[in-house]
Amino acid sequence: MGFEKTLLIVKPDGVARGLVGEVLSRIEQKGLRIEKMKTIQMDMKLAESHYIEHKGKPYYDELIKYITEAPVVVAIIGGENAIASVRRIMGPTDPLEATPGSIRGAYATSTTRNLVHGSDSQEAAKREIELFFPESKE
Ligand code: TYD
Ligand code: MG
Repeated sequence: MGFEKTLLIVKPDGVARGLVGEVLSRIEQKGLRIEKMKTIQMDMKLAESHYIEHKGKPYYDELIKYITEAPVVVAIIGGENAIASVRRIMGPTDPLEATPGSIRGAYATSTTRNLVHGSDSQEAAKREIELFFPESKE
């Protein structure tokens, strides 16, 4: 609660489909701010580190393959209740359960290729921000 920072990723299909602006526009319109942002190609090591808690899950290999297939846009988003706000703007993991007003509900059709990532807790946000933006470690 209060001012928070969270890590947002526009996943490979979001970048390839030209939806970066659309995603960021929704974040900005909510009143959140883009504090840092870059386009990167995730390698296996970074992908495995980011998704470490999912190792061994049936969807894991597909997830790593997807997130490393093409460039992603990663950003630190800051603002009041930024962690929960970004999650709400994204919609649930399964786009079929996401309302059309959410990013996943509007633009995604499959749980694997669900367009965006947002940190799900303060601990995750801290870890993920340090992983993608090591220079911002406090
Ligand atoms: P998770 O952290 O549970 O979802 P979220 O991205 O909403 O925080 O899972 C990470 C990613 O793993 C999810 O975005 C897509 C993929 N995934 C699947 O492909 N199938 C699944 O059943 C789950 C739970 C996740
Ligand atoms: Mg998650």
